[in-house]
Amino acid sequence: MCGIVGFVGQEAGALPFIFDGLKRLEYRGYDSAGIALALPEGIVLRKSKGKITLLQEVLGSLPPGPCGIGHTRWATHGRPTDQNAHPHTDCHGEIATVHNGIIENFQELRDELMADGHQFSSDTDTEVIPHLLEAYGGNQDLVLAVRRAEERLKGAYAFLAVSSHEPDKVVAVRRTSPLLIGLGQGENYLASDFSAFLAATRRAVVLENGDLAVVTPTSYTVMDSEGHSVTRPEIEVDWDIAQAERGGYQHFMLKEIMEQPEAWSDCLLGRLDGDRVVVEELGLSREEWAAVSRIQIVAAGTAYHAGLIGKALIERLARITVTVDVASEFRYQDPLVEPGTLVIAISQSGETADTLACVRMAREMGRKTYAITNTVGSTLARESDDVVYTHAGPEIAVASTKAYTTQILVLSLIALALAEIRGMPRPDIVRGLREVPALGATVLSRMDPVKAFAQKLAQNRDVFYVGRGMDWALCMEGQLKLKEISYIHAEAYAAGELKHGTLALIEEGTPVVAVITETAIVDKTLSNVLEVKARGGEVWGIVAGQLPKNIPIDHRIDLPLAHPLTSLVLAAVPLQLLAYWAAVFRGEDVDQPRNLAKSVTVE
Ligand code: F6R
Repeated sequence: MCGIVGFVGQEAGALPFIFDGLKRLEYRGYDSAGIALALPEGIVLRKSKGKITLLQEVLGSLPPGPCGIGHTRWATHGRPTDQNAHPHTDCHGEIATVHNGIIENFQELRDELMADGHQFSSDTDTEVIPHLLEAYGGNQDLVLAVRRAEERLKGAYAFLAVSSHEPDKVVAVRRTSPLLIGLGQGENYLASDFSAFLAATRRAVVLENGDLAVVTPTSYTVMDSEGHSVTRPEIEVDWDIAQAERGGYQHFMLKEIMEQPEAWSDCLLGRLDGDRVVVEELGLSREEWAAVSRIQIVAAGTAYHAGLIGKALIERLARITVTVDVASEFRYQDPLVEPGTLVIAISQSGETADTLACVRMAREMGRKTYAITNTVGSTLARESDDVVYTHAGPEIAVASTKAYTTQILVLSLIALALAEIRGMPRPDIVRGLREVPALGATVLSRMDPVKAFAQKLAQNRDVFYVGRGMDWALCMEGQLKLKEISYIHAEAYAAGELKHGTLALIEEGTPVVAVITETAIVDKTLSNVLEVKARGGEVWGIVAGQLPKNIPIDHRIDLPLAHPLTSLVLAAVPLQLLAYWAAVFRGEDVDQPRNLAKSVTVE
């Protein structure tokens, strides 16, 4: 998830507009940035690692120009460096592109283009685009070349292309990743979201999946995936700029919850092939995975909760022993990490001090370390032996949501890969995973009961969460979300543990959230639910779609029908929204809760 901006208009307009647009899009990615102007004498390019302010330092005396593109990056392929920053150009510096999303088959294309003599200067998937455009005659007819290149590209992406031979147009393609045209007076704009151009215009056209647009200073044309000219409605946006950065949502947390289906499909992209997981996309070779005899997971907070789910998945599917520890504990417990153990560190930011300390310890012990992180180029990614990225895009709200669910997806992929390597393939679950992004959209469309529940919950002082197995792990995450943003006291219990003490706290009207996606042991969970009800507790169940209608809970939040081992990702969504709405009803600062920071870089 990166930010892209394009401008085509009058002399001197491009540079200031693009620079300003990039500053507004910085929340979408901020590890590097760049600008390319299409001038008749060639593409002029400036880019820099780091935030947009650093880009300003290298802009120097760049001619302002009438046409150009810009990019602010959240790395997926290739570390955040000057070379990997966008825009990327062809071999002769005549075509430039910026891109958001992932080109799944980039390696194959890169090999082919290199064999034909193209010179690459970055590690990115993006750079195949300008070279493909060059190969298809983009320096003569950019639109035709884009059409031909599109037929070769696989993945979910959006890109902009400009050519020094046609400095009066920007060509844009949308395949899943968002892209908009902003309509000005004698100039037009392109951007991955409204905030980039709202200071200049409120009139916009939202491109649809498969669209190719050709934008000039005074016109735009849109073609669908069949090459037919189509009309897309022009809209008038009434958001202010801050609202536009949040995609129109009241808070980043809500935006990030809502964009989970997109984050999930980015996370799975290229990692599933038919009924199998593409092992090579998970950072280790088949031989290296086969040599793993035990796994030790270390993480903090929400990432630790994802690790608990990872343990259950890997142990159940691949029959490998997994231990999970809170990083701040592990590092001081003189831990026993046997030879053959793979140490997996999970961290959204990749900068959590305790998690990093565990990785350093494990390496000193001579153990192999493996990172699951959302942040390319983070300290964790650099210091671990191997790394896999969650591809959730930047997470701005302090409370982690989409990073957590993509961590679960990556752990599911690892469990499935290990199971297959150990001779126990689970094509049924791979198929289930494939459906998760679409099911996520269904879940999100059915969340009104959660809002109603949250309104009630907001009046309470204490809430309990109960479940068994992976549902218990989900409950731990659910209660943390509620505590951290609504400041309501919440505790998660293994449902079977209630009668060993906590049941004493249940009284008339005590709210209890029961997560029930572990369908194989549903009777066991329900018997604990009955214990709660007998003491007057009011039970709200988040329930797998296949469970019968008449189970004994007071209020039911149904998940859609899904494979039981994938329902748990879906169940995370109502738990997140419950916390979110409870905090909103209590008037709390959802995105920046008191006493907490997004990245905990100190012990
Ligand atoms: C809670 C939350 C934290 C983080 C924890 C670890 O919503 O976000 O509990 O999960 O601080 O952070 P990372 O994953 O960056 O290591």
